[in-house]
Amino acid sequence: MTANGNADLVIVANRLPVDRVIEPDGTPRWRRSPGGLVSALEPVMRVHDGAWIGWPGGAQEDDDDLAPFVEDGMQLVPVPLSAQEVEEFYEGFSNGTLWPLYHDVVAKPLFKREWWEAYRKVNQRFAERAAAVAAPGAMVWVHDYQLQLVPRMLRELRPDLRIGFFLHIPFPPAELFSQLPWRRAVLEGLLGADIVGFHLPGGAQNFVRLVRQRVGHKTHRDLVTLPDGRQVRAAAYPISIDAADFEELARSPEVSRRAESIRAALGHPKRVLLGVDRLDYTKGIYPRLRAYAELVADGTFDVEDTVFVQVATPSRERVDEYRRMRDEIDMLVGRVNGDLGKIGHPAISYLHSSYPREEMAALYRAADIMVVTPYRDGMNLVCKEYVACRYDNDGALVLSEFAGAAHELNQAWLVNPYDINGMKAAIVEAANAEPKELTRRMKAMRKTVREHDVDRWATGFLEELDAVRPPSRRRVRRPAI
Ligand code: G6P
Repeated sequence: MTANGNADLVIVANRLPVDRVIEPDGTPRWRRSPGGLVSALEPVMRVHDGAWIGWPGGAQEDDDDLAPFVEDGMQLVPVPLSAQEVEEFYEGFSNGTLWPLYHDVVAKPLFKREWWEAYRKVNQRFAERAAAVAAPGAMVWVHDYQLQLVPRMLRELRPDLRIGFFLHIPFPPAELFSQLPWRRAVLEGLLGADIVGFHLPGGAQNFVRLVRQRVGHKTHRDLVTLPDGRQVRAAAYPISIDAADFEELARSPEVSRRAESIRAALGHPKRVLLGVDRLDYTKGIYPRLRAYAELVADGTFDVEDTVFVQVATPSRERVDEYRRMRDEIDMLVGRVNGDLGKIGHPAISYLHSSYPREEMAALYRAADIMVVTPYRDGMNLVCKEYVACRYDNDGALVLSEFAGAAHELNQAWLVNPYDINGMKAAIVEAANAEPKELTRRMKAMRKTVREHDVDRWATGFLEELDAVRPPSRRRVRRPAI
């Protein structure tokens, strides 16, 4: 059993890979959760016999039975949150403070002291769960901005563990991070890990610089030396997808048939453009749709033979900024379709919904041009999924230079989402590109995505964590869950 203190690999993430949903008749049920993190880690958990600690979604009442359980071959350990913690820890500090702050202040971060208190308290609960589940000397891999204090809290409880941390979102420049009133506590929280991983070398450099400036530790290149001699390494580990799995799905007869029926349902257009995002203000959905609408308005594209399909997955719907943005996009789509659409031919086919992987693969197969234009994005896995599905080396990718993925997929048409004219020009160029040009670009991108898949990402990180010398002094203090 792994959930009783014997797990050699423990994943600690804000979300479990399943959500607890309550059916209309009141019975609880587990459903696979959305999000890149889950898709990225599930294959890793299947090969390692480990435990996964996370929030099951929703607010739990005191009498809810949330004992550890096995689902899809994984040991899952739920960490319950009260309604107030969902509001202050998840919607508040995680998504109202850290999310906008770490994404270049695209929206204004709110700094509220009670949110910080909830963040600390919930991080402590996660650390205690991990301490109870991990075997002596185990590897614990903590994920993402919601849990930055866990490494230090966990090390205090269990100095025998090897602790890794990976940040799935950008780590901001010192000038922005320094706005955070609790900046030093967050840096010290992360320094509890042996390895702190980022998507890009720039994130790791920002972190090391901040540790030197704000905490005063000695640093040399990617290494921080703490006063007790322990060393922490900060490095880049760009995440990816299970490319072979996506390609296999894309090649299946069902997905091919579905891709054809999508095109048929759209009226057999000459050209399909596609956007797929969580409905988030960092994703640049608004400027992308505006750029497209201008191309329809000026006659470059005709709604009779071209359509933009935008999938926007509902996300964080109780956070104010997300509500505002949803209204803005609803209004834009309504206006564009009202002004430019014709009967049976909207300019934008807008879907506020989430779909299973099979449907996503079919959409990727159906799209001639994928448009991914975040203002800032840690990596962006959607563009990698698109590339993985284009097994006949066609299709074009228009990609924001502010997505982490742009560092690897530099054969895409790279754009600045703040520059509407630049985006328009790139979309037109991609639409008019010769097949030979499309093939050249797509082939190179497919090679990158195939060679650097999620397995390589996870194995690479875990091998380095495994190689961390176990501390000489092993004092195991394990609280019961
Ligand atoms: C991003 C974050 C993840 C998060 C996901 C979905 O990818 O890096 O940590 O799980 O968004 O967001 P949500 O708030 O629904 O968990």
